[in-house]
Amino acid sequence: MDQIAYVNGSFVPLADAKVSILDRGFLFADGIYEVAAVLDGRLVDNASHLARLQRSVGEIALALPETIERIQQIQQELIARNHLVNGSIYLEVTRGADTARDFTFPKAVRPTLIMFAQFKDIVNAPSAKSGIAVITVPDIRWARRDIKSVALLAQVLAKQVAAEAGASEAWMIEDGMVTEGGSSSAFILTQDDVLVTRPNSAAILPGCTRKAVVALAEERQLRVEERPFTVAEALAAKEAFITSATLFVQAVVSIDGNNVCNGRPGPITDRLREIYIDFARKSAV
Ligand code: PDD
Repeated sequence: MDQIAYVNGSFVPLADAKVSILDRGFLFADGIYEVAAVLDGRLVDNASHLARLQRSVGEIALALPETIERIQQIQQELIARNHLVNGSIYLEVTRGADTARDFTFPKAVRPTLIMFAQFKDIVNAPSAKSGIAVITVPDIRWARRDIKSVALLAQVLAKQVAAEAGASEAWMIEDGMVTEGGSSSAFILTQDDVLVTRPNSAAILPGCTRKAVVALAEERQLRVEERPFTVAEALAAKEAFITSATLFVQAVVSIDGNNVCNGRPGPITDRLREIYIDFARKSAV
């Protein structure tokens, strides 16, 4: 079956889903994206993703070409047209295509809006059972990582280094502290059962899954400390894990080839994953 994508008002086969070579997303990475998980044909925590989308576009003075209500309808229609059961909907909005390459904002150019479906059984991903290896790399990104910009070259390079080392994620390090994963938020559980994750700031993306996991942990009386942590602390921790829309919660079992705990997913991580999946099902629309 041909996959169906959405491009600027039309639903088209993926092979025909195209934008101009003058699109500013292509020329300048002048765009914002979002990824919301789909579980049993429904969008997980979508309100949180759409709120972050509105914040990100606001930070770069880009007006959405459709209302949030219409964007939700398009997401739902893509799910239906692709018979998408488990996976995610990718959404990108750029400052559009002008008639020439000019750095400053174009006038009277309609922003580009595209969406497509991705298929993945997030709940039953094998890496959720085994845990994942991460490696560390310097964080070479720009200073506004709170904006979900499509300028992902630093993450592409970091995750390629990870893949070549047989790891699934790269933790990025700045001033001796972990910022976050290439496409995920980073957590540790200390020996005295405190959940530690870096506070939101311009240094990291405010993860929607991170936000939900922090709230769910606090509701269950798990102590949460939002502060930066080092790799040494992570290696001395009881457990470590990452969160993202397309992974939910996944245990980190090694960092730069050194085991975290006994090299297996820990019980609190497994429990938080179950709790998150439960929340995801309940929040899905
Ligand atoms: N990435 N940090 C970074 C740098 C990310 O790119 C992501 C998500 C996260 C986790 O955010 P959330 O929980 O809202 O998915 C943290 C998406 C999944 C991606 O780029 O594919």
